[in-house]
Amino acid sequence: MTLFVTGGAGFIGSNFIFYMLEQHPAYRVVCLDQLTYAGNLSTLAPVMHQQNFRFVKIDICDREAIDQLFAEEHPDVVVNFAAESHVDRSIENPSVFLQTNIMGTATLMDACRHYGIQRFHQVSTDEVYGDLPLDRPDLFFTEETPIHTSSPYSSSKASADLLALAYHRTYGLPVTISRCSNNYGPYQFPEKLIPLMIANAMHDRPLPVYGQGLNVRDWLYVEDHCKAIDLILQHGQVGEVYNVGGHNEMRNIDIVKLICKELGKSESLITYVKDRKGHDLRYAIDPTKIHKELGWLPETKFEDGIRKTIHWYQEHQNWWENIISGEYQEYYMKMYGKDKW
Ligand code: NAD
Ligand code: TYD
Repeated sequence: MTLFVTGGAGFIGSNFIFYMLEQHPAYRVVCLDQLTYAGNLSTLAPVMHQQNFRFVKIDICDREAIDQLFAEEHPDVVVNFAAESHVDRSIENPSVFLQTNIMGTATLMDACRHYGIQRFHQVSTDEVYGDLPLDRPDLFFTEETPIHTSSPYSSSKASADLLALAYHRTYGLPVTISRCSNNYGPYQFPEKLIPLMIANAMHDRPLPVYGQGLNVRDWLYVEDHCKAIDLILQHGQVGEVYNVGGHNEMRNIDIVKLICKELGKSESLITYVKDRKGHDLRYAIDPTKIHKELGWLPETKFEDGIRKTIHWYQEHQNWWENIISGEYQEYYMKMYGKDKW
């Protein structure tokens, strides 16, 4: 079994590679990653010299290079994590999101059609459903909820989902899609809420909360997401979409306060900043389908997962200090520079 994992030098892709190599030692895993600002080769150091692992620096939009790699490796399964993934960056500059998230997915699926594949799995997001109101806790996203996107990021992910389903119907490509809620855990780039707040709090820097911090996200520990994808690869039905989430809704402000408490920092670091444009109010997944059909349930409780995550960032300060130098500093000043608050 040869498994292609695109975007495997990023947050969830790297966790997925570690998970799969551990669970399926007989698999050969090939990581395809362009190493954008969000990809970090040092993350893969623990597996880099394993015989059944190969890293290839490649752009998923580069049709010729992708074709060549498929001809060489003949993958049985492709799991596509590669994407531009940060909503705020998509608001600043949508075009790279359209290129990677839509054209890159199409390029990979064309290669799958040409060379043959047992499964193409598209890693999507609950953000394709848009948002839910804050005053209707009875509402959840199901797989039947209409696509109704808010940001260039979520629109590009929804486009890729529609293409994947079209390739299944039109060409019979064996596609599955997972739509997961917000992940947290080790190796997440510190531009996203949880690692950003941990890193800033550790340095006694201001903690920039958008608006009033009342927006709600449904948090899942990254390993539970990896396990869900593995189950879908093994037992999922082709042509189907599976929502993944563990009923763990939290307001942003409560997460930031929890991080302050765990790190022994004062809540006076919390700084309310200008709200995100088009900011989605609430995400909440109904995971009934994946639970009933595949027996998936999250294993890590939020209070344990967040403690493990904070501890990981304390223990791996070198990892994130290195990656937040350079390009990230420019981004940070542009997004959070004093004149923006
Ligand atoms: P990430 O930004 O941490 O990692 C993305 C990876 O893709 C990086 O290693 C980057 O170098 C690589 N990449 C980007 N453009 C590429 C290209 N053109 N060719 C090859 N590689 C490229 O993202 P993440 O948080 O790990 O998310 C992974 C996937 O999961 C994404 O598709 C995202 O939409 C989806 N997702 C994320 C979350 C979340 O909470 N982070 C939740 C649900 C779904
Ligand atoms: P983020 O981690 O960017 O994930 P997403 O927008 O894809 O859900 O943001 C999570 C929530 O945290 C979202 O409501 C925006 C908010 N947020 C802040 O309040 N401050 C920040 O600096 C960031 C990055 C996010």
